[in-house]
Amino acid sequence: MTKNLNHDVLILGAGLAGLRGAVEIARRTEGRANIGIVSKVQLMRAHSVCAEGGTAAMLRTDEGDSFELHAWDTVKGADFLADQDVVDRFVHASPEEILLLDHWGIPWTRDADGRIDQRPFGGHSYPRATLAADKTGFFEMQTLYDTLLKYENFTRYDELFITDLLVEEGRFAGLAGIHAPSGDLVTLQGKALLIASGGAGTLYGFTTYSHTVTGDGLAMAYRAGLPLEDMEFLQFHPTGLVPSGILITEGCRGEGGHLKNAKGERFLERYAPEKMELGPRDVISRAEMTELEEGRGFEGPDGLDYLHLDLTHLGADRINTRLPLIREVCMKFVGIDPVEESIPIRPVAHYSMGGIETDIDGATRIPGIWVAGEAACVSLHGANRLGSNSTAECLVWGAIAGGKICETLEALPAPAELSPSTTNAVRGHVENLLGRQGDENLYDLRRELRSIMDRHVAVYRTGEGLSSALETVREIQERAERAPVRDKSRAYNSNLFHAFELENLLDLAEVTVAGALAREESRGAHARRDFTQRDDEDWLRHTLAWQTESGPKLDDKPVTITTWKPVERKY
Ligand code: FUM
Repeated sequence: MTKNLNHDVLILGAGLAGLRGAVEIARRTEGRANIGIVSKVQLMRAHSVCAEGGTAAMLRTDEGDSFELHAWDTVKGADFLADQDVVDRFVHASPEEILLLDHWGIPWTRDADGRIDQRPFGGHSYPRATLAADKTGFFEMQTLYDTLLKYENFTRYDELFITDLLVEEGRFAGLAGIHAPSGDLVTLQGKALLIASGGAGTLYGFTTYSHTVTGDGLAMAYRAGLPLEDMEFLQFHPTGLVPSGILITEGCRGEGGHLKNAKGERFLERYAPEKMELGPRDVISRAEMTELEEGRGFEGPDGLDYLHLDLTHLGADRINTRLPLIREVCMKFVGIDPVEESIPIRPVAHYSMGGIETDIDGATRIPGIWVAGEAACVSLHGANRLGSNSTAECLVWGAIAGGKICETLEALPAPAELSPSTTNAVRGHVENLLGRQGDENLYDLRRELRSIMDRHVAVYRTGEGLSSALETVREIQERAERAPVRDKSRAYNSNLFHAFELENLLDLAEVTVAGALAREESRGAHARRDFTQRDDEDWLRHTLAWQTESGPKLDDKPVTITTWKPVERKY
């Protein structure tokens, strides 16, 4: 190891949850806690900047919204797999986050009376997606970073690729990684770690995720001994731009956009007659797949048949003020102006409902490790997340976990020097990847993995497809041992980072597929063609996956139900 860096608190990931955590720790300790923020990319390149449509919060009691309504929408949207105590805490905390960001200077879009504006979003029975045009994540990130700059006691480690989460004697011991510009091996130690490294959607080829989001935090936590929870629930967003997969925000439908098939029909009349385009994502994605499978779509490139999202009736003014990014993206990426023409869309991999198991405060089973945001499974979203609840979750649990870390910090022991066996294992991990020999190509393997996930672990699933996917994932794991890192240089060795990422994606694919195969029911985003009904008797429970030598060991734990017993879900 060339360098060992020490902080009180380490934050892995510089997206919304990580920055919100950092701000909370900085303000609560008035800058006394020394924070290290580690990211594999430069700060404003965290995937959170891609969040578009809004952040859910109950702001209007006087006009018909309420905490109970937001909670009920979330629990029903989750197909009753959300922990209801968690949901209750969330809905009460998110309005405060909107107001804090307002005080910190975010340019929230305002209504005609100058109030913070909100727009409708799928599955919500009140318009509560708080927006900054269609660049909500970007402005939230910018505001949080500006706020953090008021405090001095933090250090950013951009472009530091973390390879291992270190645990010694059952507690958090540090992080190990490679500083991309120099190629130096680095260890970082701290009393506490907040993992805020995002989800795992690049398991799929057709995805809204940035290429950099490869589930690294989840995979490292899994290998370090923490269980992953509910990983079989991967959300498909109904409107991915064809052919790139870029997110076309649900805000388009919130503003009044229509989904149409090739016959020009608003086909949702057949699937979600009450909510139509404002139904939840799982229901709309399934409706779209049915339309495509039954031949009512348009033929697209590389098998990406598509449907239309029609905004033309909204008019240029509305599109320019409320959806300017969408107009720009469509013009630049597909040469279509949505003021004049419909947008080609289809369901796209968008969000990991599962993640590292935490308690309601974001704490894990390993002392010293907390998780927030998409990397966590605090059990807010259950089997299907409602749009705009995710940026809100990042803010709420960034703050909660950051606060808990502050409360605990004094009592946490200073980290001991890393043992030789740990440092040797870290070095061994890098040397193993660099030393691989053989005729496999890791980029081909990554493509194969994604295509198998797109094919068999998508909106609709079958036992047969999942079994074959699991077999292929295991074959690819074995072939990856023979996929050499050809670039041996030190500076910016992205070939080496891609090898680490493939290893992470493969571990997560194995857990996701094994969980999906085991769960013999249909619930939320997990729709099995061979088990078409929700089965509360056998499956109203969370899946936990633990790493073992022979693959994931599946376990389960109960869902916390405080208020609403499961009922049939209709929209
Ligand atoms: O459609 C969107 O703007 C996505 C929002 C979300 O995933 O919460």
